[in-house]
Amino acid sequence: MKKNELAINGGKPVRDSWLSLPYPGAQLYDEQEARKAFEACMSKSPFRYYGIHYLGMVEKFEKDLAARMHVKNALAVTSGTAAVVVALKAAGIGPGDKVIVPSITFVATAGAVICAGAVPVFADVDDTMHIDPKKLEHVVDKYTKAIITVPLAGAPCQIDEIMAFAKAHNLMVIEDVAQSMGSAYQGRAMGTWGDLGTYSLQMNKILTTGEGGAVVTNNDALYERAVRYHDQGQLRMDPSRSADPALTFPGQNYRMSEITGAVANAQLDRLDFIISGMKKTKKILKEELKDIQGLTFRRIIDEEGDVGASLIMYAPDNQKALEFIKAMNAENIGFYQLYGGKPVYMNPQIFTKNTVEGKGFPYNQFDEEIVYTEDMCPTACDLAARMVMLSLSPVFTEQDIEDVIQAVKKVSSAIF
Ligand SMILES: Cc1ncc(COP(=O)(O)O)c(C=O)c1O
Repeated sequence: MKKNELAINGGKPVRDSWLSLPYPGAQLYDEQEARKAFEACMSKSPFRYYGIHYLGMVEKFEKDLAARMHVKNALAVTSGTAAVVVALKAAGIGPGDKVIVPSITFVATAGAVICAGAVPVFADVDDTMHIDPKKLEHVVDKYTKAIITVPLAGAPCQIDEIMAFAKAHNLMVIEDVAQSMGSAYQGRAMGTWGDLGTYSLQMNKILTTGEGGAVVTNNDALYERAVRYHDQGQLRMDPSRSADPALTFPGQNYRMSEITGAVANAQLDRLDFIISGMKKTKKILKEELKDIQGLTFRRIIDEEGDVGASLIMYAPDNQKALEFIKAMNAENIGFYQLYGGKPVYMNPQIFTKNTVEGKGFPYNQFDEEIVYTEDMCPTACDLAARMVMLSLSPVFTEQDIEDVIQAVKKVSSAIF
C-alpha cells in the first residue's frame, strides 16, 4: 500500500473512527439541563403563564435572551418555523403579499411564508451564500412586502445593505437566524437589525431544547402583535388591554412550555462557551488550510461575528465536490453538502406549488402567474452544487482538528 493512498482507494483512513460532531448545544447536555427540567417538573407548573408553584422559566429565558442580544423584546415560541410565521403575522404579511427569501436556506423559511398565506420569491446569492443585495432589484415588485434574510450556518449576512434596500422600497425585514444564534455584524447581533428576528432551538441548532424558538424585536407594537398571534389573540401581561376590540385578532397557540423554557435557560448559559469553542476550531482550520489546492473558502463578511458553526469551501465543480466528500468520508471525516446541493426552491414542496388546500392558493392572488424555474438563481445553483461543508462543534479535540487538516490536505492533493 502506497503511503498517503486515499482510504477510498484502499489506503489507511486518517481516522479509525467517524468524525462528525453536529448539534453543538446537545453535545453539552448534562446535569445543568437535567436539573432545570427537574425544577420545572417539581414546581408542578408546566404552563408558561401560571401554575401551582410557578417559576416563570419561559419568562426568564425571554428576558435573558433579550439581554444577551441587546434587543428590547423576546418572545419564546414552539419552533423556529413558528417563530417565522409569528414574525410574518406580526408584520401583517398574508394573502396577496410576496416575500423575498434567499435562494439558499432550509425549506422552513419559504414554507413559513406560504403557511402565512403569502408567496416566496427567491433572491440569488453571492459567494457569502447570502442574498446578494444587488440582486434584490430583480425580484422586487408592487406586491413585495418583506425580505427574509437567513444568516446561513453560523455566518452573518450583509444586513446593512439589505436594510438600506428595504428602507428605499418600504419593505419589512425579518431575520431568520435559526442557524446562527449569537452571530453578529459590526458587533450587533443578527436578529436585531431587522423589524423582527427569529431563532430556533431545534436539535441541529447552536442551542437546543429539542424543539423551540424565539422572536425578537425592538418594536413594541410588533412585539405585542407577536404575543397575541402566538397566544390566541391574548395579551396576558396586560389584562386591561388583552381583549381590546381595536387590538385583538384570532391567533394560534405557539406557546413554549415551562419544561422547554427550563432547558432553554440552561442552554442559553452555554452560548458564549459554545461560540468561543467553535470559533477557535474554525480559526485554526482556516489558517492551516488557507493555501489548500482546489478549494476556496466561502466568503465571510465579518469574521468576528461568525459563530464558527461550519467550515464551508467551494470545489471547482459539482463532480469534484462530490468526489471530495466521498473521499473525506472514507477518511472518516463527515463532510457533506447542505440541502442536497440544491437551492431551496428545488424542494418539491415549493417547486410544485402544491399547497395543503390544493386550490392554487396563495399563488393565485396576483395579476401574473408565479413561475419557478430550476435556473432562476444561477449563482445559488452553482455554489450549492460546488460546496463542501463540515459542521464544527465546541467539543472538537486538538486531535480531531489535526485529523481534519491532515485529511483535507491528503484528499485535496490527490483529487484536485
Ligand atoms: C433557516 C431556518 N429557518 C427555519 C428553521 C426551522 O426551525 P425549526 O426546525 O425549529 O422549526 C430552520 C431549521 O432547520 C432553519 O435552518
